[in-house]
Amino acid sequence: METLSDQIERALEQIGSAASLETLDGLRVSLLGKTGLVTEQLKQLGKLPADERKVQGERVNRAKERLQSAIATRKLALEEAVFDKRLAEERIDITLPGRNRDLGSIHPVTRALDRIVEIFSNLGYSQAEGPEIEDDYHNFEALNFPPHHPARAMHDTFYVTPDQSGAARLLRTHTSPVQIRAMAGRQPPIRIIAAGKVYRSDSDQTHTPMFHQVEGLLVDETSSFADLKGTLAEFVRAFFERDFEMRFRPSYFPFTEPSAEVDIRWDKDDGSERWLEVLGCGMVHPNVLRNCGIDAEKYTGFAFGLGVERFAMLRYGVTDLREFFENDVRFLRQFG
Ligand code: PHE
Repeated sequence: METLSDQIERALEQIGSAASLETLDGLRVSLLGKTGLVTEQLKQLGKLPADERKVQGERVNRAKERLQSAIATRKLALEEAVFDKRLAEERIDITLPGRNRDLGSIHPVTRALDRIVEIFSNLGYSQAEGPEIEDDYHNFEALNFPPHHPARAMHDTFYVTPDQSGAARLLRTHTSPVQIRAMAGRQPPIRIIAAGKVYRSDSDQTHTPMFHQVEGLLVDETSSFADLKGTLAEFVRAFFERDFEMRFRPSYFPFTEPSAEVDIRWDKDDGSERWLEVLGCGMVHPNVLRNCGIDAEKYTGFAFGLGVERFAMLRYGVTDLREFFENDVRFLRQFG
C-alpha cells in the first residue's frame, strides 16, 4: 500500500503540473476538502494511541502545510499566465491610425486650391500668406499703382474703416500684396505661392464679391519670360492632366512689364472650341523690386495670378460660378 508520504509526493507533483485553475481546484478539494486525503488522515488520528497520535499529527499537519503552500504557488503562476494571455489578446495597437468619420466632403474650390498648391509645391514653391484686410501700400502702392492711377479703378475695392492713424484699410482685391510681403526684407532667390480669398465689389453671373486666387512669384538672377511660359504650361498640364494649346495675350498690370493674360483652348463636347482666359502674369516690374529693396539691375522675376473658381469650374464641369457659394448640399455632395 502507498504510504502517506508517497501520496503527498505524488500530490505535490500533480499540483506543480496542474495545467489550469480548474484542475488545481479539483486537486485542492481532493486533498484538503471535507472528504479529502488530509482531512481523512486527521480524522484517523483519534483512533491512534496517544504517543503515536502526536507524531502522526505533526506529520499530517506538515503535509497539509506543504500542500497548501504548493497550491498557493501554483495558483499564482496560473493566474499570472491567464492574465498575460488576456493582455496579449486584448492589446490595443496604438500605432493604428484612427478611423475617419465621414463628415461631409471637401468643397470643390478647396479641392482645386489644394491641387494647385500641391503642383507648385512639387515645383519647389513654398507657401506664403498675407492678411485679407490689407492697407493701401501693400495692395496698391508698392505694386506700382501710384495714387489716383486709373488701374485702381479696375479693382472695385471694398474699403473698411481706416486704422488709428487714418490710413486706408481695404479688403485685398488680389493676392499680389503677398508678393510685397514675401519680398520685403528678403533677398532672392525667392519662389513662393500664396493662396486665399480676395474681394471685389462685383456681382453677376461670372463674378462673386469674394473669390479665390493663387499668386506665384519667382525672383532670381536669370528668370525670363520663357521660364514663366514653361512653368505655366507645366502647371496647366499637371492640373488638367492633359495638354492644352495656350495663348499669351499682351495685357497690362502696373506691377508687371511686360504683362500677359493667358487663355487655354477648350474643346467643347459639341466639337466647338473657345478660348478661356485663366490667368494674368508678367515679368515683375523693376519698380516693385526696388520698392522691396531688391536690386533691379541684378535680379529679374516673374509673377502670375490665377482665379481658383475658374479652374475648379473647368476641372469639375461646373457651369455656374454662383453654385460654389449657395451651399446646396445636392451640389456639394457630388464632390464626395
Ligand atoms: N493680380 C492680378 C489680378 O488680380 C493678376 C496678376 C498677378 C497679374 C500676378 C500679373 C502678375 O488681376
